[in-house]
Order: sequence, then structure tokens, then C-alpha cells
Amino acid sequence: MQQLAIKDKSITKSMDFVLTEEQLSVRDAARDFAQNVLKPGVIERDENMSFPKEEVKQLGELGFLGMMIDPKYGGGGMDTVSYVLAIEEISKVDASTSVVMSVNNSLVCWGIEEYGTEEQKEKYLKPLAKGEVLGAFCLSEPEAGSDATSQKTTAVDMGDHYLLNGTKNWITNGSTASYYLVMAQTDAEKGHRGINTFIVERDWEGFTVSAKERKLGIRASDTTSLLFQDVKVPKENRIGEDGFGFKFAMKTLEGGRIGIAAQALGIASGAYELSLQYSKERKAFGKEISKHQAIQFKLADMATEIEAARLLCLKAAWQKDRGQSYTLSGSMAKVFASEVAMKTTVEAVQVHGGYGYVKEYHVERLMRDAKITQIYEGTSEIQRIVISRSILKG
Ligand code: CAA
Repeated sequence: MQQLAIKDKSITKSMDFVLTEEQLSVRDAARDFAQNVLKPGVIERDENMSFPKEEVKQLGELGFLGMMIDPKYGGGGMDTVSYVLAIEEISKVDASTSVVMSVNNSLVCWGIEEYGTEEQKEKYLKPLAKGEVLGAFCLSEPEAGSDATSQKTTAVDMGDHYLLNGTKNWITNGSTASYYLVMAQTDAEKGHRGINTFIVERDWEGFTVSAKERKLGIRASDTTSLLFQDVKVPKENRIGEDGFGFKFAMKTLEGGRIGIAAQALGIASGAYELSLQYSKERKAFGKEISKHQAIQFKLADMATEIEAARLLCLKAAWQKDRGQSYTLSGSMAKVFASEVAMKTTVEAVQVHGGYGYVKEYHVERLMRDAKITQIYEGTSEIQRIVISRSILKG
């Protein structure tokens, strides 16, 4: 079986000259974890759709589930660049685990830290950031995916609590989370200004989790629908001012998109490194296939496009770390990196020939995993809407 081991001359190291010692050591720790803990069972978890429970627990203990959160709330106090580097390393080996990590960090912990009350941070953020429990982000519905303002889930103000009713779809960590950030319409007449976000606990009455979706890729991550039937949500569990819920979702997704861009980057670089290694070992027509120009050109394109994707991911992360707007760079990073992931993984299967089509060589899984990065946390088409609006605004 081919190894996933990363050689020192890896393309991943091409940006080392701009990274700090601390950022490099975070990357090394993530790489060690991916190689030593995630790699051994990755094929079986994908095949059996089995959630990496023990592995995710260890990720939490290492501080990877609340990486950017202030240590006073149990987080790692790291920057977004370190986060991108860590997600890339995890995704090279196991994109099912990296989406769990990305959702918990970007969509759940970040949103509570940025907009939550002190009480919400004490009660919910601390265990989430320490990785003691997982969180989920619940915006999509059966009829509201890209068109996210069309929320049908309702939360009726009952005085001291809201009554939550509706269905959410495609929820990462759906059955494994303890806390859920749920967007719901509190005043339909106000459109997106009538949407609020609530923190909902898993064991509240009226809350049901459906069976896991059987997916093409990221099969070990758990994706479910959620049903809310007269769930009582205390008033103090609303995040932000009344009507802030849609903007909360949009702001949170901006950071989420950096995480998914990094995931796509990792999937692409994992497939590239496997292809590079394989091309130096496999012989055809009397020489290694890396000596054939048809393969050399594929490798050259992969390396060039991955490098460009990495620069876009790092730019978005640098802007976020400096308090600058990252709406545009985050969407550019996501649309570009996810398209590079798809293209690179398809080519990686081609470089491997028949071996690329079987599970033991990993690239077929990476190809299946790549596709979702063009769909979740805003499809490629939604990213192009965000980018074009931003550039046309001037
Ligand atoms: N930051 C702050 N506010 C924002 C914003 C942002 N990035 N983007 C939009 N808004 C505000 C707008 O200013 C506007 O408010 P005002 O009227 O007060 O100015 C309001 O939100 C509505 O914006 P638009 O009029 O632009 O809304 P729209 O209907 O045209 O949609 C959209 C905008 C960008 C297409 C948005 O709907 C969107 O991003 N859709 C995709 C949703 C998405 O990414 N879903 C993924 C779900 S999460 C997931 O994948 C689950 C998982 O577990 C991984």
C-alpha cells in the first residue's frame, strides 16, 4: 500500500519563509497527528461511515477544536494562519475529520466568542473550545440552501422563551454535537431582518436528529437533518440584538469559508504529493512515469495551482488576523481552492491509472471528498456572487 508520508521537499513548505516559528510548530503538530493518528484508520472509517470519535477527542485535547479562541474561554489563542496550516495538514489525510474541526472552530466557537454574551461564553463556548463537546451550525433547510434568507423555521416569542419549530438540513456534526446554533424566523414580515440565531441544546424536549446521510465523500463525518417541534428556547440563548441572526450567519460563514478553502487546499496537496511519489516509483515503457512529459505536465499544473490556492488562503487568513475585511479574499480562496481540489484529485487518479481507482491508494477518496468543498458553506456560484458584488461595489 502506498504511504501518505510527506517528504521534506513537500510543496507545503514553499511558504515557510513567511511563517513564524509558532505557526510552523502548529503545522508540524497537525501533520504528526494526521500521519500518526488519522492515517491508520482513514480508509475503514470512510468505507463504514464511522465517525472519528476517539480521533476528534484527541484533536480537542491538543487544542485544535477552539484554536483561535481566547485562552480565557478555553481556546488555543492561535491566529488564523496557524488554523489554515493545521486544517491543510489534517485534510491531506482525512477530510472527514477536518470538516468537524472547521465547523467547530469557525462556525460555532468564533461566532459565540465574537457576538455572544459573557454568560453564553462561560456556559457554551468554554466546553466547545476545549473540545469537550462539539457544536453545529444550522442555517440550511430543505428549501433554503443558497437562498439563505428564505428561512421557514420559526421561533415565536412567548415572553420568557421562544418556541422553535422547523427542519434543518445538511448539518455537519448533526448527531454528534451537544450545542447547535440555529437560525430561525421570528418575524416573517421583516425578511432577513426578522431572523435570529439561538443556541439550542441537544437534549431539549422536541428536538429530534435524523439518521446520517449516506454521502459521496467526507463519509466519516456525520451529516443529518434536525427536527424542532415546539422546542422551548430561553430568551437568554438568542445571540445578539433582535434581528441580528442573518448577519450573524453571514459574518460567521466568512470565516468558515477560509476553513473550507484550507480543507480544499489540503485535499489538493495530499493528492498531489501522492501523485508525485507514485510517479517516481511506477515504471512504464522502460522508465519511471515521472520521466514522461504527459505526467510531468500534470504535476507542473497541480503544483502551480496549489501554490496559488495556498497564497489565497494565507492572504484571507492574514487579513482576518489584521482586522481587515476578508469577505472578498475568503470567497476567492474558497472558490479557487475548491476548484483546484476537484481538478487536482481527478488528475491524481489519472496519474495512478487503475491503482487510482481503488481505495488502498487514497486518491479516489480524496477525489470524492473534494466535491463537497464546491458545495458547502456557499457553493462556487454563491462565492462568485459575493466576489462580483464586492468588486463592482468599488
Ligand atoms: N456580512 C454582513 N452582512 C451581510 C453579509 C456579510 N458578509 N452578506 C450579506 N449581509 C447582509 C446584507 O448587508 C443585507 O443586510 P441589509 O439589508 O441590512 O443591508 C442582508 O445581509 C441580506 O443580504 P443580501 O440582500 O445580499 O441577501 P441575498 O438574499 O442577496 O443573499 C447571499 C446573499 C450572499 C447569497 C447569502 O444568502 C449567502 O451567502 N448564501 C449562501 C448561504 C451558505 O453559505 N450556506 C451554507 C450553509 S452552512 C453549511 O454549509 C453547513 C455545514 O455544516 C458545513
